[in-house]
Amino acid sequence: MTDGLNLCSSSKMQPVRELVAKVAATNTTVLLRGESGVGKEIVARAIHKLSPRVNRQFLKVNCAALPGELLESELFGHEKGAFTGAYRQKPGKFEAAHQGTLLLDEIGEMPMRLQAKLLHVLQDGEFSRVGGERIIGTDVRLLASTNRDLEAAMRAHQFREDLYYRLNVIEIRIPPLRERREEIPVLLDHFKRRFNAQYGRAVEIPPDSIRAFMEYHWPGNIRELENAVKRVVVLGSARPVHQEIVANVQRAGYRSSGTAAPSGANPDQAISLKEIARQAARDAERVAIKEVLDRVHWNRAKAARLLQISYKALLYKIVQCGLVSHDTEKEKETIAS
Ligand SMILES: Nc1ncnc2c1ncn2[C@@H]1O[C@H](COP(=O)(O)OP(=O)(O)OP(=O)(O)O)[C@@H](O)[C@H]1O
Ligand SMILES: [Mg+2]
Repeated sequence: MTDGLNLCSSSKMQPVRELVAKVAATNTTVLLRGESGVGKEIVARAIHKLSPRVNRQFLKVNCAALPGELLESELFGHEKGAFTGAYRQKPGKFEAAHQGTLLLDEIGEMPMRLQAKLLHVLQDGEFSRVGGERIIGTDVRLLASTNRDLEAAMRAHQFREDLYYRLNVIEIRIPPLRERREEIPVLLDHFKRRFNAQYGRAVEIPPDSIRAFMEYHWPGNIRELENAVKRVVVLGSARPVHQEIVANVQRAGYRSSGTAAPSGANPDQAISLKEIARQAARDAERVAIKEVLDRVHWNRAKAARLLQISYKALLYKIVQCGLVSHDTEKEKETIAS
């Protein structure tokens, strides 16, 4: 696949691309932050690819995947007999990544004891294998990533402050996909091509589905979008995934507008079918209006034409649907006049 960052064309990703280009050539530690699935690993790999270490190993260790002892051995290796089951000597990732790059994924989950050992490596560039005496020197460029609030972890004494400052020389925050929606069509196209090639298909994603995908808030970010496209290709049609996404958008609308979902928790509560229908229609309208407004950069006259309603009706609906716009007050005035 492409190196990933080529696809991050949005203005929101511009600072990320610039930082990657700036830090790649240096040896500094970089802390990559962002929600799950935003592309922290893709950014880490891009840094490695642009660095002088490109012809050496890029290795990754997931600090959340292994319990403390095994993680220590994974990182630093062990000597024969270091613990039950250590039948032979094994070098760790710090040795294997010598002169290359090591990504410590989910660094926020690293146990305190190992944090101390890691800090020592960062300060002195040396360590010893588990159960070993010999000091081993290392030249590894360290990258770390997390979706955890490290500052809160520090306050809760779960993350060492000194390690935090060592790792956080440069911080790159990767924004969630919902803040860079303009990348969605390009990403959809990229994954569609990839999975079509992989499964020998020629599935297309129609424009109305692309619009629905652009409206969705993607809590699982690019990974969720990638999986959605995989389902589209495997199922041979965008329709089922499109419908799922629309249902999710509507559910999110229920939550954010504070309206109870139709199946309330109280079994005695009256359920008005009319109200449910009205709410569903309002939700569908809200999604459609927002999509058109975003498409025409909030040019309301243009949006009204596309939606085939009057300008004044559109302004009214913008307020009624609670759509966010910086000049909502002005709209209210216009309607009142
Ligand atoms: N810009 C991109 N172009 C193409 N694919 C991308 C891009 N960003 C992310 N992806 C894909 O999305 C998925 C998630 O990316 P990645 O593993 O880098 O996210 P992450 O932030 O490390 O997630 P987690 O916190 O869950 O580990 C991967 O399959 C990756 O290939
Ligand atoms: Mg990751």
